[in-house]
Amino acid sequence: MALASRLVDIHTHVYLPRYCSLLRSRTSVPRILTSTRDGKPDDRLLILDHEPSGGRPVGPQYWDRDEKLKFMDRHGIDLSVVSSANPWLDFLPASEARTLASQLNEDLEKYCSDSPELSLSLKRFYGFGLLPLVPEISTDALLESIDQISKLKYLKGIIMGTRGIGKGLDDEALDPVWAALEKAGLVVFLHPHYGVDEKAWGDKNNGHVLPLALGFPFETTIATTRLILAGVFDRFPSLRLLLAHSGGALPQLSSRLASCIEHDPVVASRLKHDARWYLGKLYFDAVAYGPEELGFVADVIARSERFETGGSTHAPATGVDRTLGSRRMLFGTDHPFFPPLTSTEKWKSVVENLEAIDAVAGWGQAEKEGVRGGNALSLFNLV
Ligand code: URA
Ligand code: ZN
Repeated sequence: MALASRLVDIHTHVYLPRYCSLLRSRTSVPRILTSTRDGKPDDRLLILDHEPSGGRPVGPQYWDRDEKLKFMDRHGIDLSVVSSANPWLDFLPASEARTLASQLNEDLEKYCSDSPELSLSLKRFYGFGLLPLVPEISTDALLESIDQISKLKYLKGIIMGTRGIGKGLDDEALDPVWAALEKAGLVVFLHPHYGVDEKAWGDKNNGHVLPLALGFPFETTIATTRLILAGVFDRFPSLRLLLAHSGGALPQLSSRLASCIEHDPVVASRLKHDARWYLGKLYFDAVAYGPEELGFVADVIARSERFETGGSTHAPATGVDRTLGSRRMLFGTDHPFFPPLTSTEKWKSVVENLEAIDAVAGWGQAEKEGVRGGNALSLFNLV
């Protein structure tokens, strides 16, 4: 099979056994609550506020590599770039976060290096490492962690949340971190955990729907916008940032963002480019569940070229080439989250995302194969 037609999952999570032990030992969220029901383990994951019904069921899908392989084989996934799941190390004191980051990076390297081979030159697993991004961590500790990850053969990037070291990702204290990540060529996978103020969800019991469907993507939208406004992409133009859930609402709001910037004396002269230009520098997972959304994101990415030279805000009448935008989009599953509620051979969350890629108007075979895997192999330098 040609490499270009591989199916690569770049949004797939694990709670490594060492991390699970920590979660099991805790008495407050985040934690794994262990109990038995009818003589069988009935573990529950409590990581978000107000987890319904005592937490989400959690089992080997979350930590066992063989389970991940079975899932991959069942869905035709050749290769996965695995990341630790939220809330990472966010809740730990600095010294503990530093030690655990280093250990978990080694654990993930082993998870990948011991994995079966896909071909002579490829394994089934690669990974995103973790930085000890917590308040009071020293810059040296963060740089040491980046250095560690860059030397681990199978780790190709890092996953991070949106809090940085306490003040968000637009904190100037993170500049040495962006510089080091850019220099090391590590892909930064930006992933939500906190959502937005829960008061926005009202008092009806809507389970996890509002925090996951809206809160998660809004959090990513805000964090990425703050990075743009802070000039991070102007200062670190080669930084490669991959956004979870297709960048949330940012593609839809980017022209409004550009207009608000242009009309605001505080920021109007701060950025080197029109806000829409920056979207063409980002990478987006294709975890959007619908072909129209994927096509729209591709259009917005492709449109960024119009703003190359400082930019007119007047949209030309001609359309954009959405095949170009597809090159920055990458298939993902969000496994092991969103399992089917009833036993089925394939997970709907996976099938829907694959069908969405297949149904994007204007994408030919090359674009679909790119989003399914070819783009990931290029982004992570696996070809
Ligand atoms: N729920 C989570 O807590 N994390 C994810 O990545 C997806 C769903
Ligand atoms: Zn995820």
